[in-house]
Amino acid sequence: MLTISLIWGIVVAICCCLWLITGIRRRRMGEPPLENGLIPYVGCALQFGANPLEFLRINKRKYGHIFTCKLMGKYVHFITNPFSYTTVMRHGKYFDSKKFNLAASAKAFGHRSIDPSDGNTTENVHETFIRTLQGDALNSLSEAMMENLQYVMRPPGLSKTNPDSWVTEGMYSFCNKVMFEAGYLTLFGKDLTRQEAQRTSILNNLDNFKQFDKIFPALVAGLPIHVFKNAHNAREKLAEDLKHENLQKRDNISELITTRMFLNDTLSTFDDMEKAKTHLALLWAAQANTLPATFWCLFHTIRSSEAMKMATEEVRKTLEKSGQKISFEGKPISLSQMQLNDMPVLDSIIKEALRLSSASLNIRPAKEDFTLHLEEGSYNIRKDDIIAIYPQLLHLDPEIYPDPLTFKYDRYLDENGKPKNSFYCNGIKLKYYYMPFGWGLTMCPGRLFAVSEIKQFLILMLSYFEMQLVDSQVKCPPLDQSRVGLGILPPTNDIEFKYRLKYLM
Ligand code: HEM
Repeated sequence: MLTISLIWGIVVAICCCLWLITGIRRRRMGEPPLENGLIPYVGCALQFGANPLEFLRINKRKYGHIFTCKLMGKYVHFITNPFSYTTVMRHGKYFDSKKFNLAASAKAFGHRSIDPSDGNTTENVHETFIRTLQGDALNSLSEAMMENLQYVMRPPGLSKTNPDSWVTEGMYSFCNKVMFEAGYLTLFGKDLTRQEAQRTSILNNLDNFKQFDKIFPALVAGLPIHVFKNAHNAREKLAEDLKHENLQKRDNISELITTRMFLNDTLSTFDDMEKAKTHLALLWAAQANTLPATFWCLFHTIRSSEAMKMATEEVRKTLEKSGQKISFEGKPISLSQMQLNDMPVLDSIIKEALRLSSASLNIRPAKEDFTLHLEEGSYNIRKDDIIAIYPQLLHLDPEIYPDPLTFKYDRYLDENGKPKNSFYCNGIKLKYYYMPFGWGLTMCPGRLFAVSEIKQFLILMLSYFEMQLVDSQVKCPPLDQSRVGLGILPPTNDIEFKYRLKYLM
């Protein structure tokens, strides 16, 4: 017995020595200050995950504007000075972010690589995203979304319901239902032959989507999906509905999806299920941040009487200018992209709600050893290390945004009510002050559509419904930190609100 314990003791001691010799990185000359953390492999990931903002603020105070932390086996160099972001971007030739994003997608959604360098396709995925989500494609997407939102919000017979009757519901669950169904129909089209069954099936998909999204941070951290049986089933069911045999029954599929369905070369070596999983990746990108973002925009609008008043007035004026009258029986509301773009109050509300709820981690893996030249000095970076920016540091910096935790509907408006683009830190104008959609080459290609669809949702809610919080004094719910790094954080708890049809002629 004693011998076995002794052998185990020696094995553990040797492992510890090996880890100390090989597992702990030692800072070399010219490298940023380094935090290895105490736990092998995990490094500082637990402290970072528990409260990233606080963790980064503490390290910034300790080390200055750039420092390195070991997180799940990777060495991450955090850049915390917003004036350095432009300089970091100039080092683009040393970064390999597209490769990293494509590999993460393949792992999480379970399809083979769609990185051209792996030979399955010659498609430049990012260019396809820009072509099918911006410019003319954005006009068609927005038009379809406005129609679908009203299809979901104004079911036949709605106008006959008693306008006096309030419906009480969780606001987050309401936003999820409406935006998921309308967004799903906009991306993947409508099956006109089975509209009721289609609604049930999309709402089932929403449940599966939520189950899958819950474990998404674990997948990104490197855990295999098979560990999560229910989420794995949910992912497979979601993909099943997106197989080509099912999509071919649908009308008005967006260009984002048809481009991938009918391109010969792209994905031609993938089977139907694998192709469906690449569509699922797009469904996730289009919904995972938009759903919580929509909640925060509606919540803050209803909670601030001034925001509500100014937003309602802007919507009224926009509809009046476009010569439209709101009615349940008449034509659905339709606004061009140009008319939507000319709504500074709603823009400011959306920006402010996203500033308060966004917690994305923007990362750039290094392709090779290089020297990062910043205003505060030059730093050697090793191949495969990661350069990271955490925009929440910027979004909640009281120097840039006074009283940073308070929602101010007009924070992004100037004294003339026009969009405000000048924000300062230490008296110097910032180029980057708002980054929920990332930065540089991989910046979210769906950002214009995202803002448009949230704006359309607000326009329709303000036009058709009277809304109230059940508890008018309700506190702002805390942000659910489990999605930190991925984008917009959802609320930890839902908020009850009630709504009823406006009296419309
Ligand atoms: C409020 C809503 C949204 C937020 C906050 C958001 C944010 C982001 C962020 C932070 C990234 C990563 C950028 C980077 O790696 O630097 C991203 C990527 C992406 N987003 Fe969005 N997004 C939103 C809505 C949408 C929508 C509606 C779509 C499409 C319909 C979309 C499509 C994409 C795609 C395809 C990528 C991957 C780009 C690539 O890897 O090349 N997003 N988004």
